[in-house]
Amino acid sequence: NSMLSWQRTAYHFQPEKNWMNDPNGPMYYKGWYHFFYQYNPEGAVWGSIVWGHAVSRDLIHWLHLPLAMVADQWYDQNGVWTGSATILPDGQVIMLYTGSTNESVQVQNLAYPADPSDPLLVDWIKYPSNPVLFPPPGIDTKDFRDPTTAWLTSEGKWRISIGSKLNKTGIALLYDTNDFKTYERVEGLLRAVPGTGMWECVDFFPVSSEGENGLDASINGENVKHVVKVSLDDDRHDYYAVGTYDEKNAKFTPDDLNNDVGIGLRYDYGIFYASKTFYDESKGRRVLWSWIGESDSEYADVAKGWASIQGIPRTVTLDKKTGSSLLQWPVAEVESLRLGSNEFENLKVKPGSVVPLEIGTAAQLDIIAEFEIDNKSLEMTAQSNKEYECSTSGGAAERGALGPFGLLVLADDDLSEYTPTYFYVVKGSDGQLKTSFCSDQLRSSLATDVGKKIFGSSVTVLGDEKLSVRILVDHSVVESFAQGGRTCVTSRVYPTKAIYGAARLFLFNNATEATVTASVKVWQMNSAFIRPFNPQESNS
Ligand code: FRU
Repeated sequence: NSMLSWQRTAYHFQPEKNWMNDPNGPMYYKGWYHFFYQYNPEGAVWGSIVWGHAVSRDLIHWLHLPLAMVADQWYDQNGVWTGSATILPDGQVIMLYTGSTNESVQVQNLAYPADPSDPLLVDWIKYPSNPVLFPPPGIDTKDFRDPTTAWLTSEGKWRISIGSKLNKTGIALLYDTNDFKTYERVEGLLRAVPGTGMWECVDFFPVSSEGENGLDASINGENVKHVVKVSLDDDRHDYYAVGTYDEKNAKFTPDDLNNDVGIGLRYDYGIFYASKTFYDESKGRRVLWSWIGESDSEYADVAKGWASIQGIPRTVTLDKKTGSSLLQWPVAEVESLRLGSNEFENLKVKPGSVVPLEIGTAAQLDIIAEFEIDNKSLEMTAQSNKEYECSTSGGAAERGALGPFGLLVLADDDLSEYTPTYFYVVKGSDGQLKTSFCSDQLRSSLATDVGKKIFGSSVTVLGDEKLSVRILVDHSVVESFAQGGRTCVTSRVYPTKAIYGAARLFLFNNATEATVTASVKVWQMNSAFIRPFNPQESNS
């Protein structure tokens, strides 16, 4: 339906049509980034799932390849579900994935490239003796899925984790293997958190507490911390905790249980699920992929013929300043799409004002903005013990002394539609400033059948830091990264007026006391080619 085509994104990964969900088996192999994904070739809703496949030189421009794996065996007849790649030291590629069997039992299966010399890895062989793992005793046959990338133990075995639950406790099971064909259950659990329900798409990886570089899954030792990420089936969000991995006892212990609110911090306070990282050895970085679903109706998805995008891949590093949180940042390659830019320096934005930023069309943007509240208003503002929470607040229309202020993206000239992405600062009764970062969808669309929540969270702002945000705007998605990626919020929005050439960008300050100084740099973003691979073209 071309009527809905403006909702398609221009530089986020999408199949040409139909339904997509989780990222699967991301890896770098012989000069190409490989991306597999949960895909329903038959329609724009979740259903009979197979593995889609695409390749890229730069994580931004993509060539669609034929389906990598379809549901052609008894052990994956009900779906070729989520899995991960492991690249062995000799270059061999191991793919482990969950199959939902003809009886809907969740089992783990092994697959490998038919021709390892083909950099495109077009053909895949399923191991003839699949499945390699059945649900263990005591685990429900429908609660055993999404194997991780394997890492090496000090004994020289490969270890994987698989998500599950026991009653209402989410758990990460562990298995050791030498050959990926036979496995031994490791006693104990990598992590378990009561009350969190089924853990999908467990991810486990090391981060450097010293450098900015990423680490291969098997790295451990000094200056290394570990991250466990789980996707909670019950609340549809991805949570991570930074902590210590005790290999002997096969146990992960989070550093900061208070900060972790029991299960962890969220990668993203908007729409972001079933994420998975991989180690990119070509650039020495760890890269995070994530499924960004729709928040329109299923009816609209069927009408437009597609559903879901993937987030722009993000590099993940430990936030050395807090020590217990991660920083996520769009991969540098996305900057190759930057076209002309406009810069606005030290604009004074008075309480209760909206300032148009004359940049022309604003449907594809990369924005970097900094904000400072002037000292006088900070001093004059009374202390307050009011707690602010984005999701239960009145959004950008609710005025406080020191917020909200920020940007209105995907706005039209008349401001009949706009999506505020903003900071809200409260001066606590101890005199300390507490900052929240939010994205308000309440007025994002005149359409009535779309989600219009307010997303966001508190964000740590350290003494020497200005308030800062990076925002990627791409027609129906707004990905925002506050304080260098310490707190991230992704929204899907469905404007009906603020589309293509009619989309605009504004600064706003709806605080009652604070005068804000804003500096903004805005780039127009090119579209990325994301199209079928043409075998006639050279491997460029
Ligand atoms: C997460 C998930 C996985 C499963 C796959 C099925 O979104 O439910 O647990 O393997 O999607 O498509």
